[in-house]
Amino acid sequence: RPLKFVTLLGSLRKASLNAIVANSLPELAPSGVEISSLGSVADFPHYDADIQAEGFPEAVLAMGAAIAAADGVIVVTPEYNYSVPGALKNAIDWLSRLPDSPLSGKPLAIQTVSPGAIGGARAQYHLRQSLVFLNANVINKPEIMIGQAGSRIDAEKGTVSDESTRHHLTAQLDALAALARRAG
Ligand code: FNR
Repeated sequence: RPLKFVTLLGSLRKASLNAIVANSLPELAPSGVEISSLGSVADFPHYDADIQAEGFPEAVLAMGAAIAAADGVIVVTPEYNYSVPGALKNAIDWLSRLPDSPLSGKPLAIQTVSPGAIGGARAQYHLRQSLVFLNANVINKPEIMIGQAGSRIDAEKGTVSDESTRHHLTAQLDALAALARRAG
């Protein structure tokens, strides 16, 4: 059967460069891999244990179920102030409290995209730190840090225009697929 991967996006804005990369992944995927979006984290309330005590928000439950059903997760996110955007961190905090902990053991790949030179590298290591506590199965390499995104992404067409970036993305999806197959 095909592997099913889902994308978790750290930007909320319509014209997001990260969204363009996330949306390009289905066509860049190796054969036997299907990729779909988890949907926006914009509807998640700020994490609050009092809200949790009354019942997890519907959006959190739905995303948790979609992750549980997937063979792998690809987080695609900008770097905000050298770290993880608040909306994404908030989503991770909610998902971490779900009883079945859907990210535990889940094969996961990280991609960051930035107009800046180093492509959001600093956010990647903050994100990895949180994912250690969630026990996600994060691949180490190849790392995807798309810097100077304005020259590698065609924002008007909404495509990843740089050929070498496209190859790197496919290589990472290959690595995630290999891990997901090993994980069974
Ligand atoms: C940024 N940006 C940014 N870029 C970067 O490379 N390192 C950083 O630390 C930051 N910090 C930062 C903080 C805040 C609050 C904003 C709004 C932006 C710039 C960021 O990479 C740029 O806006 C991207 O285009 C955001 O990603 P999307 O929305 O295009 O996917």
